[in-house]
Amino acid sequence: MVQKNSTSTFEGTIGFIGGGNMAKSLVGGLVSKGFHPSSIFVYDPMPEAMHFMADQFGVRVTDGNDKTISNSSIVVLAVKPQLARSVLKEAGSALQEHRPLLISIAAGVQIKDLDLWSGGGLAIVRVMPNTPALIQRGMTALHPNSRVSKEQLEYAERILSAVGKTVRVPAESDLDAVTALSGSGPAYFFFLIEAMEQAAQDMGIDRDTAHMLATETAVGAGLLAAGSSESAAVLRKRVTSPGGVTEAAFQALENAGVKESWVEAIIAGQRRSIDMSKS
Ligand SMILES: NC(=O)c1ccc[n+]([C@@H]2O[C@H](COP(=O)([O-])OP(=O)(O)OC[C@H]3O[C@@H](n4cnc5c(N)ncnc54)[C@H](OP(=O)(O)O)[C@@H]3O)[C@@H](O)[C@H]2O)c1
Repeated sequence: MVQKNSTSTFEGTIGFIGGGNMAKSLVGGLVSKGFHPSSIFVYDPMPEAMHFMADQFGVRVTDGNDKTISNSSIVVLAVKPQLARSVLKEAGSALQEHRPLLISIAAGVQIKDLDLWSGGGLAIVRVMPNTPALIQRGMTALHPNSRVSKEQLEYAERILSAVGKTVRVPAESDLDAVTALSGSGPAYFFFLIEAMEQAAQDMGIDRDTAHMLATETAVGAGLLAAGSSESAAVLRKRVTSPGGVTEAAFQALENAGVKESWVEAIIAGQRRSIDMSKS
């Protein structure tokens, strides 16, 4: 696996099929990283989404996906997964005529289906981002099909690194594990924040203070873990003095089998992702 976080400028043109939350994050990230707005084309049936894109980022909005595709060397499929089939089938002739690199962020939609629906033979990179992309702190995994060149894959990584870090996974099926880990992952941390806030309030701390204590601790611990060469286990042990407060808390977690439950929960998420991809 190769990890990258490039900030270099971009060449070429990028089209977005769909101008929703993820597309807005990507376009915002690209523009802030130096990609020229006039090289970005977007189509979304919602006029509000188009106005936002044009007003906020100065990108070029089109009157249809075909127009977006004909202007773009890279096309990002950014619609809900359940719309991917109909949107690609409708855009199939434009995609076949112009043959851009297709980057799909549609969760759970397999490359073989993207290939089939778009008419076959396209270079496709399937990616799995997560919601912190909205604040340019996303974690995105990528997997290309065999038609993607080294340069195209690097280009796809540069686009996704506009909203955070990227990692390549060797097998498409790894994206099911990624979905359960970093895709769903923000929700696991929100859940822990919820539990910490509840405990704080049970101990008599007011709601706002509880929120600040829990969220800032989560941010600080995340940054510490991300910036450290030590494992999370070592960092945890450093906070845990023998006979102290943290040890008492961990004893209670161990008695309740919390770590095993988390591992089982994440693997259950992977199983669900596999089932959803198949259907
Ligand atoms: N949000 C996340 O955290 C996240 C994480 C990982 C992956 N993803 C993936 O990212 C994709 C987009 O998610 P999102 O949260 O950005 O969804 P979203 O906000 O609903 O954006 C999708 C946009 O596509 C538009 N659209 C519908 N039909 C279209 C068409 N024929 N042509 C062009 N645009 C069309 C939708 O318009 P209407 O609203 O009018 O239908 C909507 O504005 C999904 O496939 C999701 O699985 C999202």
